[in-house]
Amino acid sequence: MTTKYTIREYPDPVLRNETKLVVNFDEDLRELLVEMHQAMFEYDGVGLAAPQIGLSRKIAIVYYEEKLYTIINPEIVESSGTESGEEGCLSFPGIYGSVKRPEKVTIKCQDGKGNEQVLEAEGFLARAFCHEIDHLNGVLIIDHFSPMKKNMVKRKMLKKGREKA
Ligand code: CO
Repeated sequence: MTTKYTIREYPDPVLRNETKLVVNFDEDLRELLVEMHQAMFEYDGVGLAAPQIGLSRKIAIVYYEEKLYTIINPEIVESSGTESGEEGCLSFPGIYGSVKRPEKVTIKCQDGKGNEQVLEAEGFLARAFCHEIDHLNGVLIIDHFSPMKKNMVKRKMLKKGREKA
């Protein structure tokens, strides 16, 4: 591992924090984006949101079909359909569960230079965008699980945390 970041795992409170809008699209932000890409590749994730490396800022990245999406200050402006599918999350290693997401979404956000962009996605990519935008709103996959499964995963993660400590 060459990344300086450790992925924060549930129940780390930073995963629930409110995130701040990005206003400075400067060299520091570009360096941070490079660091996030590095961390995502090393942890073998499909996406990564800033809270997962301990930063309460509205920044996320998604890598899909050899394309890297930089999602800053996002807003879902349109969504349609619903689809259930298995999801995992780097903040819940080894945990997977069914999550209902829109089939199609349109997202308005900014790229690393601050340019406004509109991203349209469906299927897996739409799911990945929604998952990362959830992170920026303090929402986690367990919040989409059934109450029983959510409790089971919570207990498992708390136990794991205690064993590590
Ligand atoms: Co996640």
